[in-house]
Amino acid sequence: MTTLFINIKELIQVRDISVKKVAGDAMNTLPTIKNAFLLIKDDLIEDFGSMDNVPTSADSIVDVRNKMIFPSWCDSHTHIVFAGNREQEFVDRIKGLTYEEIANKGGGILNSVKKLQITSEEDLYLQSAKRLEEVIKLGTGAIEIKSGYGLTVEAELKMLRVIKKLQQNYQLPIKATFLGAHAFPSEYKNNKEAYINIIINEMLPKIAAENLAEFIDVFCETGYFSVADTDKILTAAKKYNLTPKVHVNQFNSIGGVEKSVLHNALSVDHLEIMTKEDIVALQNSETMPVALPSCSYFLSIPYTPAKDIIAANLPLALATDFNPGSTPSGNMNFVVATACIKMKMTPEQAINAATINGAYAMNLSDKVGSITKGKKANFFITKEIPSYGFLPYSFGSNLIESAYINGEEF
Ligand code: NIG
Ligand code: FE
Repeated sequence: MTTLFINIKELIQVRDISVKKVAGDAMNTLPTIKNAFLLIKDDLIEDFGSMDNVPTSADSIVDVRNKMIFPSWCDSHTHIVFAGNREQEFVDRIKGLTYEEIANKGGGILNSVKKLQITSEEDLYLQSAKRLEEVIKLGTGAIEIKSGYGLTVEAELKMLRVIKKLQQNYQLPIKATFLGAHAFPSEYKNNKEAYINIIINEMLPKIAAENLAEFIDVFCETGYFSVADTDKILTAAKKYNLTPKVHVNQFNSIGGVEKSVLHNALSVDHLEIMTKEDIVALQNSETMPVALPSCSYFLSIPYTPAKDIIAANLPLALATDFNPGSTPSGNMNFVVATACIKMKMTPEQAINAATINGAYAMNLSDKVGSITKGKKANFFITKEIPSYGFLPYSFGSNLIESAYINGEEF
């Protein structure tokens, strides 16, 4: 079955030769073809090019005059499996409490943990599937989802099984990350060692036995997991071939970036607070720095210094961090706009960061993230827009007309 899209005003992020990621100056280049065609065969990109060379036949033809086609957004950092919401904390913060003060009072992550533990697997699945469908319609075509609101063996497994069910029922690539080290349960507040031992001796073997995760994450932060704790957990996870993707430098720079790089982390995420040493640690590594601007926006905390990171010849990816506490939004269009508006990324840099570099941060560069022959036909068609920069410029408008996963309209 072939589908031919013709008269595409501009086909965005076309890469004849597949690249794994783009870094430094190369992030300023966003290859496109104006007045283009795109040919899909079954679930894959078969061909693309200028309308001058348009193929003469296909099983079906779609005319997308005045509209553009982008490869789907690749959202490499989410927590979309959660129960209920934390609207009350939002109001508490408006009234003056900080995110950290709320967490210290037993709210924050532990508030979501309480809700998740009493939610059935079926209900949790339904709540999560609804969010997944919402973000697919907003252009996301590959996504990573973390556990981390369970914090008991049973509840972490429940979260990961929900992710597995999403993987089975939805066609887009979904990557699962085990984040048992998201916070210390209140009963282990004074015995952190014991909880870390549960992660290592009970959770990890069960997750590996059921093949429930590909990645391991730790919230490496003052008041959460120390650099030594992170080292211990990542070392234990190596035995099960789990690749690290680490929450670091959200509020403090404590050496977590360097430690993550030593563990060959696929990505380090947040990075709102970055020192020169953190940047140096990332140079000469294969670790992708990931910025989460919607989190900075929602919590009114600093934005990741994108310009410094790119000036250091590093790559940068953008993701949502969709979660009930710090980022109750999974909209990658808003992420791209906010990266341009607040982090001073150019549209070219932001689109590279939200597509090919996001794919890299999920180990998916060979399948998604660009318009390349043989990659998955995951893409979106815009509404009529004058230029690709119009997307971040008109922040808050939904300019996505339709989303395709594996060559089929979602
Ligand atoms: O990435 N920082 C740690 N974890 C999440 C927030 C979790 C929450 O508040 O529920 C984050 O921002
Ligand atoms: Fe997060």
